[in-house]
Amino acid sequence: MGKCPDCGTWDSLEAHTTDPGAEKDRQKGIVEAWQALAEGDAAPPDAPVARPIAEAGAAEGPAPRLRTGIGEFDRVLGGGVVPGSALLIGGEPGIGKSTLLLQAAGALARAGTRVLYASSEESAEQIRLRAQRLGVESLAELFVLADTNLARLVEQCRRVKPALVVIDSVQMIYKGDLEAPPGSLTQLRRCASDLVFLAKASGMAVALVGHVTKDGQLAGPRLLEHLVDAVLYFEGDRSHAHRIVRAVKNRYGTTLEIGLFEMSGEGLKEVPEGVMGMDAHAEPRPGTAHCPVMHGSRCLLVELQALTATGFLGAAKRKSSGLDPNRLAMLIAVLEQHAGMRLADRDIFASAVGGVRVVEPAADLALLAAVAGAETRRALPAQTCLIGEVGLAGEVRPVGHLEQRLREAARLGYERAIIPKTKGARPPRGFALVQVESVQGLLEELGPAPKARPARSPRVAE
Ligand code: TYD
Ligand code: MG
Repeated sequence: MGKCPDCGTWDSLEAHTTDPGAEKDRQKGIVEAWQALAEGDAAPPDAPVARPIAEAGAAEGPAPRLRTGIGEFDRVLGGGVVPGSALLIGGEPGIGKSTLLLQAAGALARAGTRVLYASSEESAEQIRLRAQRLGVESLAELFVLADTNLARLVEQCRRVKPALVVIDSVQMIYKGDLEAPPGSLTQLRRCASDLVFLAKASGMAVALVGHVTKDGQLAGPRLLEHLVDAVLYFEGDRSHAHRIVRAVKNRYGTTLEIGLFEMSGEGLKEVPEGVMGMDAHAEPRPGTAHCPVMHGSRCLLVELQALTATGFLGAAKRKSSGLDPNRLAMLIAVLEQHAGMRLADRDIFASAVGGVRVVEPAADLALLAAVAGAETRRALPAQTCLIGEVGLAGEVRPVGHLEQRLREAARLGYERAIIPKTKGARPPRGFALVQVESVQGLLEELGPAPKARPARSPRVAE
């Protein structure tokens, strides 16, 4: 069966042969081992021994990280690739995984670190063409291999002895001794766990590339997340110029950091701090609001947009992109309950511009202002940004990193911020702070409503 009749996923069934005696044998083995110990038999000499934590792994100390010199990439990894670690890089096809890894491999090789780039999707000639485009085609320490067989791949690793091996992609690698066909989940799981084991045993860092479909469901890389030490995902989609790489798991660093890139003719270029096509001096429009959002140690200014349109009572649409839909629903309810706005029959669309995903509660106030502004056709004053969390009682709550957000906004040319009531808030020089305590307070800050409103024609359900 291709499809699981129970949960509906495709290609998730595996053949198993069960041996009812095996479980019993295993239990018997444990009992015997315990008895042998009690009788004084020593454990085999090469078995791992439990030790006090202060002594564990202290023998040689941590090996230095492999810094690629691509600042944004090192940043998401928490300061570079850890030797002996396994890394998973996921993203939609065509988003730039191969490009980023070949660039990183090239940067390491240029610094004299040996890297093996094993492609299971492209021929050696294709890799060379891409390398030419990225300017890494003539590096002595950059080895490339086009193969899909795991055993041959491991053999090449043993021969070349790289510090980092890139497997692009892990979905195409197969183990010859498995019955499951190449590309199946069984193959994927077994190959990936073998490669992770290879990393731990050899001290090589292994970077696995995995394709993820838009909903992240079907593709399999999610199955591997628990196996590896760090997981990076390309966020957003191909249609945006910017590429955001986010760590969703990292055993050696924080998962809050993001790396910002832009796809160019010569591969991915790093994007300087905070600049995401935002213009502080843009003409204010109803339905837009700017907000400084924290991503790890970095503050990014994002534009949130909202649009309200005639909908049907009881079937009004609430759609969001790059935002948390639950948060949007909550803010709409707050506007209804605490600002007397009737939105039950309005379709509401909201998005974070530029492909960055915004999930921070500190963006509540901006999102609320965008929705309220769109509905009442009132704009915020120019060069203004908003910071604050909105509670269910309609109160505006303080958020962390206020000073850093204000500093970044001032640096980018904003002159005014609407913030929660904060004792002793110190704005940067020449920067005005407007403190609001509640949603009603915020609405007073929106400009006057335009005189002529486009007529709201009533729509009748058929
Ligand atoms: P790729 O890295 O192959 O994506 P993935 O491995 O995630 O499937 O390439 C992504 C896209 O980027 C591809 O459509 C071509 C484009 N590209 C550039 O615009 N500039 C470049 O220098 C390179 C190498 C690729
Ligand atoms: Mg690729």
